[in-house]
Amino acid sequence: MAVVFSGAIFLASSMSNSSVEVPPLELLQLLGDGKNHSGQELASLLNVSRTAIWKQLAKLEALGLELLSQSGKGYCLVGGLELLDKDIISRFLHKTASAAISELTLLTLTDSTNSYLMRQEHADGISVCFAEFQTAGRGRRGRQWVSPFASNIYLSLRLSISRGLGAVEGLSLAFGVAVVRALDELGVDHLKLKWPNDVLWSGKKLGGILIEVVGDPSGVCHLVVGLGLNLKSEKSMVQSIDQPWVSLDAILPVPPSRNHVAACLLNHIVPLLSNYEGNGFAGYQQEWEALNAHSNQLVDLYMGSVQATGLMRGVSSSGALLLETENGIEVFHGGEISLRARV
Ligand code: BTN
Repeated sequence: MAVVFSGAIFLASSMSNSSVEVPPLELLQLLGDGKNHSGQELASLLNVSRTAIWKQLAKLEALGLELLSQSGKGYCLVGGLELLDKDIISRFLHKTASAAISELTLLTLTDSTNSYLMRQEHADGISVCFAEFQTAGRGRRGRQWVSPFASNIYLSLRLSISRGLGAVEGLSLAFGVAVVRALDELGVDHLKLKWPNDVLWSGKKLGGILIEVVGDPSGVCHLVVGLGLNLKSEKSMVQSIDQPWVSLDAILPVPPSRNHVAACLLNHIVPLLSNYEGNGFAGYQQEWEALNAHSNQLVDLYMGSVQATGLMRGVSSSGALLLETENGIEVFHGGEISLRARV
């Protein structure tokens, strides 16, 4: 496995135009303990002036972070932060995952990890990219994915498919199962999956999956599978996410380390992706059904201007949604369909 670590300085080509700047990582590491630090202390530790520190700290708000400044106490980064670290992630990785990863890239700043991997040259095996911050994180159906700095997981994986998209039907559902398995290992209970690809806890969104394709969808192509997983509730998220959501820090009494979460996700996701073209969805169907958030519930499906209503009767062996309407069981395949439960 080749490991690439890109600090901010190497990142010009990993993102489209953006004026967002990241303060020096040394400063973020000092503030990462979430405790108070005086301007004087930070200035002398980094061997710069207090004004230089103040200018760097002013950049934090644009990164979606909350800095408290109290006279007499100094500066405190609310909740602290833990930067991703390739050595720690690699240490937690199982051999099978590690062997299947051709490249593990950690970006400080990028437009979107999905876009980053879609721009890369073809590589054998699975390419993995995490970012600390996304200036243009993308969700399904053209939505923005709010991505405050070093707070959550922004992960994308790229792999080649030789037999066209038909051979990987149901992948986003199986991917959801792998994410639930990883979170289960981290002690998170009561998770559910919303067709086709939301990870829910108590009916609120904990994570989302976005799959994109490069190349010929009917033959040799490359899939980029992106996962956004909320670990920490930042003020910037509270202000801008317009649907019920939750983060791991609200679920677990002691939230796990980001690096541990990152490795645990890879340990479950990478083997799934390596074997999916051969195995398909059938082996995940039962587990997905057990996690189905809307089993036998009355739901509305939205497909552009078209809408269908019926009882959610689970999924087919290829991951298509089975909806019982007045016409009988109707089958809906993924794409730009969204599902809402009737309240
Ligand atoms: C959804 O709308 O539920 C899907 C969200 C997917 C977000 C992730 S974050 C990492 C990757 N990069 C992106 O720009 N989007 C995905």
